[in-house]
Amino acid sequence: MTDLLAQGLTGSTGVLGVIGDPISHSLSPAMQNAALRSLGKDYIYVPLAVSPLHVEEAIAGMRALGIKGLNVTIPHKVAVMPYLDEIDPMAQLIGAVNTINNDGGRLTGYNTDGYGFLRSLKEEAGWDPQGQRVTVIGAGGAARAIGFQLALSRIESLVLANRTEERARYLANDIHHRTSCPTVACSLDGLTSYLGTTDILINTTSLGMHPEIDTMPPVDCECLPTTALVCDIVYHPNETQLIQKAAACGLATLPGLGMLAYQGAAALEIWLQVEAPVEVMKATLRRQLFGDE
Ligand code: ATR
Repeated sequence: MTDLLAQGLTGSTGVLGVIGDPISHSLSPAMQNAALRSLGKDYIYVPLAVSPLHVEEAIAGMRALGIKGLNVTIPHKVAVMPYLDEIDPMAQLIGAVNTINNDGGRLTGYNTDGYGFLRSLKEEAGWDPQGQRVTVIGAGGAARAIGFQLALSRIESLVLANRTEERARYLANDIHHRTSCPTVACSLDGLTSYLGTTDILINTTSLGMHPEIDTMPPVDCECLPTTALVCDIVYHPNETQLIQKAAACGLATLPGLGMLAYQGAAALEIWLQVEAPVEVMKATLRRQLFGDE
């Protein structure tokens, strides 16, 4: 609270926020307020708990209250869509919205999740996905966002491996038909046969996430090319068992904190048309998650 007051709210302070249910665990308020302070912007970013029964009213409230921007998290990413005036083409493809911009009462929905991963891949790992053979583990919302984003980044091919193979097959068909990217699906048991031809491997499942830190997807890192990059979107712990095993095999790795920071940075850039202070945002996340100074 003192932190908020220290920001010096005025009669003209703009409002940003995040809606979800639950929302109390969200790291976005700390990350975005740190960014706003660092930019010297007269905005505040607040967590807003919205029940699934009140999504329509929440969006009407955004208009009525002149809230400039909202992030949208579980479970509202699909439910908000019918109440917006416009959906950005990438969010349309992904079928979910994680960012809403209010431009004088006109609400546009975006999805910055896949873009957040792409920026982390490029800026932190130094990898351009163009021409690469990518394997994504999982077929949920995060896999959809990353799958479509990479399929449109001129990768050579995409493999989707999922516990429920049917779900991977559905997503693979969708991506293939809508982007023309060669995409196939397999079960987790079938994953091994694709590892030898994988340049970039990405875990989008919750396997390895705190507190289940001893779990990991069934990946034998010895089967990957020695030049492969192993990515995990799980950001807590910072180094999942998958990332640790890959590093022990001498492979390049990319942990999940960057995607979290860059999806937030992209939202801030949409709302305020500024360059987001990503290093401040990452440091805030690290402090919140791991107590780093
Ligand atoms: P998100 O939006 O974070 O992607 P989600 O849509 O609930 O979350 O998707 C979770 C993904 O993690 C799914 O691919 C899920 O596999 P299923 O489609 O078979 O449910 C995967 N997942 C979750 N727990 C898992 C586990 N214990 N083993 C293997 N896969 C798991």
